[in-house]
Amino acid sequence: MTKPLNIGMIGYGFMGRAHSNAYRRVNNFFDLEYGPVLKAACARSLEQVKAFADKWGYESVETDWRKLIERKDIDAVDICVPNNLHLEIATAAAQAGKMILCEKPLALNGADGKKMVEAVEKAKVPNMVWYNYRRVPAVTLAKNLVAEGKLGKIFHYRANFLQDWTISADLPQGGTGLWRLDVAAAGSGVTGDLLAHCIDTAIWLNGDIATVNAMTETFVKERKHNLTGKVEKVGIDDACTFMCRFDNGSLGLFESTRYARGHKALYTFEINGEHASIKWDLHDLHRLQYFDHRDPGIVRGWRSIHVSDGDQPYMKHWWVPGLQIGYEHSFVHQVADFIEGITKGKPAMPDFKDAQRTQLICDAVLASAKDKKWMDVVKA
Ligand SMILES: NC(=O)c1ccc[n+]([C@@H]2O[C@H](COP(=O)([O-])OP(=O)(O)OC[C@H]3O[C@@H](n4cnc5c(N)ncnc54)[C@H](O)[C@@H]3O)[C@@H](O)[C@H]2O)c1
Repeated sequence: MTKPLNIGMIGYGFMGRAHSNAYRRVNNFFDLEYGPVLKAACARSLEQVKAFADKWGYESVETDWRKLIERKDIDAVDICVPNNLHLEIATAAAQAGKMILCEKPLALNGADGKKMVEAVEKAKVPNMVWYNYRRVPAVTLAKNLVAEGKLGKIFHYRANFLQDWTISADLPQGGTGLWRLDVAAAGSGVTGDLLAHCIDTAIWLNGDIATVNAMTETFVKERKHNLTGKVEKVGIDDACTFMCRFDNGSLGLFESTRYARGHKALYTFEINGEHASIKWDLHDLHRLQYFDHRDPGIVRGWRSIHVSDGDQPYMKHWWVPGLQIGYEHSFVHQVADFIEGITKGKPAMPDFKDAQRTQLICDAVLASAKDKKWMDVVKA
C-alpha cells in the first residue's frame, strides 16, 4: 500500500494537465512509497476549475490559491500559473509548511528567485522546479555519457529553441493564453520561457556558465493589451542570441526566437568533446545522436541511439525494448524522482536553489543585451 501524498494543483492550463497526467500515471509504472492523491485544483473561474477537476479526477476545487494553501489536507502545492505568481504562492506555501513543486522559470528574475530560495530553506520544505527535459531518457543518457567522461574535455555547447507563433503583429498581449507576451506576467520573453530550458539542461550537462554576451530583439514593438484594451509597448524579448564561457573553459552558443517560421518547438543541443560529440532534438526526443572518434575508422560515424532499452535511463519502467515513450513521460519521471527524493531524504534536482542558477544566468543575458557588453553571471 502506498501512503497518500495530497496534491493541491494551482492552474489548469498546459502544465496543469501535464502534471495531473503524471500524478495519475506514476504509481502504475514506478514502485514508490507514496501515491499522489488529486486532492484539490484551484483557478479563478469556478466553472472552469470544476470542469478541469471532473475531467482529471480532483476531489475538490478552490478559486483562491490562499485557501488551497491553508488547507490541512494538502501536502504538496503544485504551481502551474504564470511566472509573476510564482514568488507569492511559493512563499506562502513554504510558510504554511507545504512541499512545493513549482513550474519554471523559478521567478520573474534573480531577486525574486533569491526570496523563494530563502523561503523554502527557512521552512525546510521539499521543493523542486519542473525543468522536465532533464528527464527525457535520451537527455539523461547524454548526462550519463558526459559524466562518465566519454566525450573527454568539452569544447563546445550549442543550443536552440525555435518557435514561430508570435510573428503576426495583430496578436494581442496579456491575459489567458497570451500572458507570455506581457512582460509584467512573464518577466521576459524567450529568455525566461525557452532559453531557461536550454540553460538548465546546459548547466546540468556541462557545468556552470561564467560570463555571457547577448543580443535581444523585440520585432513587434506595440500590441493591444487584452487586460487594458489599449495598444501598449511590448516589453518582452521576441528573440535572444547569446554566447558564453562555461566554468570548464568550453564555449557556448544559444539562440531562441518565436520568429523562426516553420518551427514550433525545435529544442536542440549539441556538445562537442575531445573524443566524442552528442546531439539531441526534441522533435525526435527518444533518440540521441552520438559520434565517437575512437571507433575503428571503417565504421566511424554518427550513430542514432534509439533510447528504449531497459538498461537506458527510466526505460525499464515502460514497455519492451524498441518501443519508445514521449513528452508527457518526462513529467511522470519527475514526479517519480520527487517521491523517491522525499522517501530517501535526498531532494530531486533541480530544487529552488539549483534553478536559481538558471535565473541568474537569464538576468545576466538580459543585462548584457541591454548594456551591449559581456556580463559576468552573479554567483549565488
Ligand atoms: N516545463 C515546461 O516545459 C513548461 C511548459 C509550459 C509552461 N511552463 C510554465 O508553467 C507555468 C504555467 O504555464 P502554462 O503554459 O500552463 O500556462 P497556461 O496559460 O496554459 O495556464 C495558466 C493557468 O494559470 C491559471 N491562473 C492564472 N492566474 C491565476 C490565479 N491568480 N490563481 C489561480 N490560477 C491562475 C489560469 O487559469 C490557467 O489555468 C508557467 O510558469 C510556464 O512558464 C513550463
